[in-house]
Amino acid sequence: MAVASGSSGGRSCFVLGASGETGRVLLRELLARRVFARVTLIGRRRLSLDEETGAAVAVVDFERLSEHAAAFQGHDVGFCCLGTTRAKAGRAGFIRVDRDYVTQAAELARAGGCTHFVLQSSQGANPHSRFLYLRVKGEVENLVQAVGFDRCTILRPAVLLCKRQESRPAEWVTQQFLGVVAWVFPTAYSVPVERVARAMVACVLQPGEGKVKVLENAAIHELGKALPQQGT
Ligand SMILES: NC(=O)c1ccc[n+]([C@@H]2O[C@H](COP(=O)([O-])OP(=O)(O)OC[C@H]3O[C@@H](n4cnc5c(N)ncnc54)[C@H](OP(=O)(O)O)[C@@H]3O)[C@@H](O)[C@H]2O)c1
Repeated sequence: MAVASGSSGGRSCFVLGASGETGRVLLRELLARRVFARVTLIGRRRLSLDEETGAAVAVVDFERLSEHAAAFQGHDVGFCCLGTTRAKAGRAGFIRVDRDYVTQAAELARAGGCTHFVLQSSQGANPHSRFLYLRVKGEVENLVQAVGFDRCTILRPAVLLCKRQESRPAEWVTQQFLGVVAWVFPTAYSVPVERVARAMVACVLQPGEGKVKVLENAAIHELGKALPQQGT
């Protein structure tokens, strides 16, 4: 499968979570490929000037998101790479960010005219899981689908391979192990953030197949590989 590189026709998008590991790569891809005429970063803080150049920035208070409806107005596509961890935010904080902030943002985006929402979820997302992480991811997938976008693409990556800026020792050990396992099972247990970001870009360049599309880890690898490397 090949995905044509190129523009999404003068359209506009926003990115939630552009300061994170996947979001930063996604932002670089969107700006370098000039996929959209306008890219807006919606986050709780600004990035470095270098990273932001070429994008508009809206700094918002996620606890008062409804007061920032204007930031969500007029975008065709919304990308969401938002998320925290239970270790960092506690149980309630994790649910608040990964489910409530994401759902509220999706609702504001839809009200503002967004037709395609691209959500980075997780492998194993399941609203009935007994594991909090997977349950919340399953719940947010359902809530976002219920918002009623013309198109909703849900990516379910396995463990993300990246050089994480933040220290997460357990995740680092897992990444080292899975980095080796990936030589034998390249698409089963992990995925580089670059490939997730490219799959997110590729899915907006492809024609829609139905209202909701869920991309499991192997499909993310395939779609991410199908988008030509920049400069090729
Ligand atoms: N780690 C994995 O192996 C893995 C695997 C599968 C799926 N996922 C999921 O993939 C998504 C992206 O992961 P990632 O590792 O690329 O993300 P990340 O590096 O942890 O970045 C998360 C983003 O969310 C923002 N954020 C976190 N807490 C926030 C809060 N309280 N208010 C506002 N913004 C907040 C961060 O902003 P700041 O920079 O301001 O903190 C950052 O932009 C997450 O939903 C994650 O659960 C992760």
